[in-house]
Amino acid sequence: MTTTGSPLPAPHSAIGIDFTLNGEPVSLSVSAAERLLDTLRERLRLTGTKEGCGEGECGSCTVWLDGLPVCACLVPSYQVRGRRVDTVEGVAPTRLAPYLASGATQCGACTPGVVMTAEWIRRHPTLLATHTVRELMAGNLCRCTGYDGIVNGIAAALDADRERA
Ligand code: FES
Ligand code: FES
Repeated sequence: MTTTGSPLPAPHSAIGIDFTLNGEPVSLSVSAAERLLDTLRERLRLTGTKEGCGEGECGSCTVWLDGLPVCACLVPSYQVRGRRVDTVEGVAPTRLAPYLASGATQCGACTPGVVMTAEWIRRHPTLLATHTVRELMAGNLCRCTGYDGIVNGIAAALDADRERA
């Protein structure tokens, strides 16, 4: 998709980038200092990715870059040229059921980032041979759930994945 119209100002020094977003090709111009978080939310209007701290501490802005979770508030948009970005909008709603059933979501500020890290764990369950779910989720802060709901939701999702395998 080629985008037009955006609440962000036209970039002063426009940098053209092409990348893959949730499996679809995207072409647009960004400014040199623009953050991936703002490109997603303001230029592409994908507002599922949230801003919390804006400095890489809370994980609310977690997206995948080439399959790895990153903080979109720390990634300059020009650096995604030629790469693959996945956001919470690309997660099938059916995959969210275990998180909802376990009370892993409350206020929702952290939820998109939590889901992106949780889904990354589900796709790489061998990580759990050397790390606990709590360790892998350490980059996602949540003020509401006490983390038990999140950990239980991921455990339930992993159990369901194993039963389906
Ligand atoms: S908003 Fe990016 S880590 Fe907090
Ligand atoms: S549900 Fe995570 S901060 Fe509220």
